[in-house]
Amino acid sequence: MKNPFATKRGAQMLLSTVAAGFLVALAVGHSASRALAQTAAPADLLARGEYLTGDAGQCADCHNAQLQGGPNKVKPRPGVPWADTVPSLRGLKMFATDADALTFLRTGALPDGSKAKAPMPGYRFNQADATAIVAYLRSLK
Ligand code: HEC
Repeated sequence: MKNPFATKRGAQMLLSTVAAGFLVALAVGHSASRALAQTAAPADLLARGEYLTGDAGQCADCHNAQLQGGPNKVKPRPGVPWADTVPSLRGLKMFATDADALTFLRTGALPDGSKAKAPMPGYRFNQADATAIVAYLRSLK
């Protein structure tokens, strides 16, 4: 058999094989790093969400130690519409979609456009922090 390198056609074939191999390697590398990101991200995300709702945000001050909700223990401010109860944040079951939860944490607006009653603060978390909080609270059973 003739050496394929010897002909122009052979050299072209070899080049395109190498190029295709390179693209396949790129694609495999890309999906491998995406798969890694998908398995590595949750732990980081959950830790960040735990920190933001814990030490930083202190949601437990009002939502109770295990974020399980209950009666609102914060003394009402006269003249301010006040919530009698504080919802459980475990699983964030009040939000049908993550998008609704993110909007609330980013803007303070509920799906119907209203705001939560006092003393719930109108938080303005950024997208990354809101994402971490939603991931963490959704993970709580
Ligand atoms: C100063 C007290 C207080 C703190 C601190 C607080 N909350 Fe609340 N939160 C409330 C009260 C009271 C309600 C109920 C409001 C209502 O019934 O309209 C509430 C409601 C909510 C709701 C449900 C909104 C709705 O009406 O569906 C979410 C979600 C929520 N809080 C998340 C958080 C998160 C996350 C944190 C911490 C980053 C936090 N809250 C910290 C008092 C608080």
